[in-house]
Amino acid sequence: MTRDAAGETPFGVDGPIVSLFQAEPDRARDFSQRVGSLFVDFSKQQISHAERAQLVLLARSRGVEQGLEKLFSGAQVNASEHRPALHWLVRTPASDVPTQLEDFAMSNAQTQQRMQEIVEAIHAERAAQVGLVQPRDIVNLGIGGSDLGPRLVVDALAPYCKASMRTHFVANVDGYALHKLLPTLNPATTLFVVASKSFNTQETLLNARVAHAWLRENGVAETAIQQHFLAVSANVPAAVAFGIDQSKVLPMFDSVGGRYSLWSAVGLSAAIALGWSNFTALLKGAFAMDNHVRKSELADNLAVQMALVAYHNANVLRHATQAVVSYDERLYRLPEFLQQLEMESNGKSVSAAGEVLNHGSAPVVWGGLGTNVQHAFFQAMHQGTQRVPIDFIGVIQAAHPYQENHQVLLANLLAQSAALLQGKSFERARAELPSDLSDQAADALARQKMFSGNRPSSTILLDSLNPHSLGELLALYEHKTYVLSLLWGVNCFDQWGVELGKTIAQSLLPTLQAATKDPIGFDPSTQSLLAHIRSRSTC
Ligand code: F6P
Repeated sequence: MTRDAAGETPFGVDGPIVSLFQAEPDRARDFSQRVGSLFVDFSKQQISHAERAQLVLLARSRGVEQGLEKLFSGAQVNASEHRPALHWLVRTPASDVPTQLEDFAMSNAQTQQRMQEIVEAIHAERAAQVGLVQPRDIVNLGIGGSDLGPRLVVDALAPYCKASMRTHFVANVDGYALHKLLPTLNPATTLFVVASKSFNTQETLLNARVAHAWLRENGVAETAIQQHFLAVSANVPAAVAFGIDQSKVLPMFDSVGGRYSLWSAVGLSAAIALGWSNFTALLKGAFAMDNHVRKSELADNLAVQMALVAYHNANVLRHATQAVVSYDERLYRLPEFLQQLEMESNGKSVSAAGEVLNHGSAPVVWGGLGTNVQHAFFQAMHQGTQRVPIDFIGVIQAAHPYQENHQVLLANLLAQSAALLQGKSFERARAELPSDLSDQAADALARQKMFSGNRPSSTILLDSLNPHSLGELLALYEHKTYVLSLLWGVNCFDQWGVELGKTIAQSLLPTLQAATKDPIGFDPSTQSLLAHIRSRSTC
């Protein structure tokens, strides 16, 4: 291997990834792929050609091909809830729907038609025709999958949104969220969209009650209330029992999981903000990715390749976390969306067959916005004791006139992944120091200024950020998540792990509300915290 005077190879500090670049001259080409408007480069991952071939065999032996076939034929891939997973179906054009799913598709088409009517009426300033106020403000009340997807889309596609309307998202049960928002709204022109698949989510229902009370207290007559509410749910009777007029409740399927539900009626707030043609362009982008994933061989299948890289990082190299860094202000919310998608789906320690896993599953997914995070956690990415694989996401064409800003942004994106790969040798760091330092001081400082390099990353570049390309990107991550679940043998469509906390919160509430109730039945720490809160509480 060639090395310069500082002991570095032409690709950086000697180590596992750098030596792959030395040994595999066409690596950048061989480990990158263009699908639709996405270009993905995996070459900075610590995977050789030979390992990749082994991983493809692993995918085959774990039944990834059959798993994809099952997903796209509507088989019950969600075994614990005896359901198929139909998030892909709700974005499939009628002409491409498999015969056995035509009934689902028909009812989905009816919902989409209703969504379209609502969206188009609002955009044409004739919302009264669909029984609604003409909104200037839309407030989506929902949490988790009933919040993160539409919220991400509205942020990411802000330039496509109707300018005369604002869209807000309130998820948290922390009353401060509504307390801060409501005084900025005109009740007469505010439309609430209550999105809850179960219509049983404490946070959402409580916030919907606060919204109702706020409308009433601010001059909206009870007889006019229905014009201010839409709901989306798989539990239509519960939404109606809650008080929302049946004609204002848009149904969704049980078989569309919350975190995969953006494409269904859960996307209503986003559709209203974007307009119908932009919303359908988002669906089309996702459908294009579905087609790629459904039809491509394992070795050419971008979602499979992404999942195999993630599997290799988590289970072979034992990297405990995965970061996602968006180098585009509009994709600020992508990490939190992916956090729910990947961790709620695959954060399991028992297989779909009920066996305790003897291998790891979902790593912790986290991240932030470039370049901001370069001045926050990137120190640890470069020199920390943990190696964190990173997905760098960038958009080639800017959506603003400040070309130099955009060039600097992209230069930083490329620089970070290059620096993580290349590192800086001890010899080079030492050679850069002033010559008047003692040997001992120079050695100590050079050790702090050297970089090991060989830190893995993938780079995903979108030509431009638009409804279609965003649909492609999000669907790609959905399919990656599903393929990973097949590799790990877990069910990525259920989430039993969120139940216990909800149950305990319900049983804690009366003790918090009634000072007369003794805080008993909880562990000593919780009892003492309860007692402390009660002794200091002002409400
Ligand atoms: O608590 C987790 C969760 O069940 C998510 O899976 C879901 O997206 C979120 O809550 C909201 O649920 P719902 O849409 O039923 O209100």
